[in-house]
Amino acid sequence: MDIAELAGQIREARARTLECIAGLSDAQLRPPLMSIVNPFVWEAGHVAFFQELFVLRALDCAQPLIANADALFDSTTIAHNDRWELPLPSLARVQDYLRRVAELTVARLRQGASRDDLYRNWLAVAHEDMHAEAFTYMRQTLAYPAPSFDLPRMNPRNEGPLPGDASVPGGLLRLGADPGDGFVLDNEQWAHEVTVPPFRIAKAPVTQAEFAAFVDDGGYARRELWRPAGWEWREYAKAAHPLYWRKQGPGWQRRHFDQWRDLEPHRPVVHLCWHEAEAWCRWAGRRLPTEAEWEMAAACEPAAGGVAPRKRHFPWGDTAPTAAHVNMDWHAMDTVDVAALAPGDSAFGCRQMIGNVWEWTSSTFLPFPGFEIGPYREYSEPLFWTRKVLRGGCWASRSRMLRNTWRNFFTPNRRDVFAGFRTCALP
Ligand SMILES: [Fe+2]
Repeated sequence: MDIAELAGQIREARARTLECIAGLSDAQLRPPLMSIVNPFVWEAGHVAFFQELFVLRALDCAQPLIANADALFDSTTIAHNDRWELPLPSLARVQDYLRRVAELTVARLRQGASRDDLYRNWLAVAHEDMHAEAFTYMRQTLAYPAPSFDLPRMNPRNEGPLPGDASVPGGLLRLGADPGDGFVLDNEQWAHEVTVPPFRIAKAPVTQAEFAAFVDDGGYARRELWRPAGWEWREYAKAAHPLYWRKQGPGWQRRHFDQWRDLEPHRPVVHLCWHEAEAWCRWAGRRLPTEAEWEMAAACEPAAGGVAPRKRHFPWGDTAPTAAHVNMDWHAMDTVDVAALAPGDSAFGCRQMIGNVWEWTSSTFLPFPGFEIGPYREYSEPLFWTRKVLRGGCWASRSRMLRNTWRNFFTPNRRDVFAGFRTCALP
């Protein structure tokens, strides 16, 4: 990645962050205290703070632009609930902070950069992209209008279902990223061999119609379909259907931001926690893939007796993603039918492994052998063992970041994320 490309990404990411917090009233910018949202002004200031801390302050010992920034925006030291009690600057001041940090960062970068400089700049963009996705699902959580971006939009068409499984021969997989893969996060480091038995994996994620059949079959009331921890969660959450669904006549509707819509039967079901995905699997006689299976289905090519050693960067190959391959970058501002985007298929015919919805795997988020903590020390290491791995990104993820080895991770009770799931056949 060169300096001009990275500078363009810094500016582009900053424009999106500013749009994420645009068009909201003062009251909307400061939602009630919830564990899964932040005050919008706080989160936006935190994005600027992170870039300032990781680039300008870390590399140049620059003075903070806001004197008490550490006491306002450091997510590692300010407890979640305390973010509602802070003397936060006005929206206008935070917008100014965002603009100034981005411009100083770009100006600094244009003077030249070492590899460590470039990595830190890339990390700040990756962090900002993750927060842009979080702003998007915060707006969904709070039933706000969808954000409005100065980006090309596509209108989803009816493309239908994509039933059936792909057969993957199994074999040796080098799970994770290789040093030649460019900038990666610490939790992807490094690729190591794992043996994967042959398996069959769905060509597409589970659809709204497929999930509705489980709901209508009493799936949420049938204890035998749930693991003990899942049943405990279901009782605590009083869950009787997916979070943003409501009964309307004989069918269901789902809330998309501030609008209710009839289900779109062939779009992937989304906003499910890991426990709900697991219960559906038990009901359907299926199972979640491990993250190694997911990565093999996305990245490998068949070869005599198994898979070839070389992995693809993306399911379709190594060329950069386009709107023909993936539903990302808010292209549709929603999911699209699971049969859409055939040019993005993996070598085994699995569709939309990148984009549309995050996919829960059965795997617990663990360090790979030889893991070494990266400069963003709080990103992965404190969360190992407590999260489940998701793969593939969603429609609100950025296509410049996602690839086959990207690992996301959330606690198994999170329903606010744009997460669905794809399943494997039982042996
Ligand atoms: Fe953050």
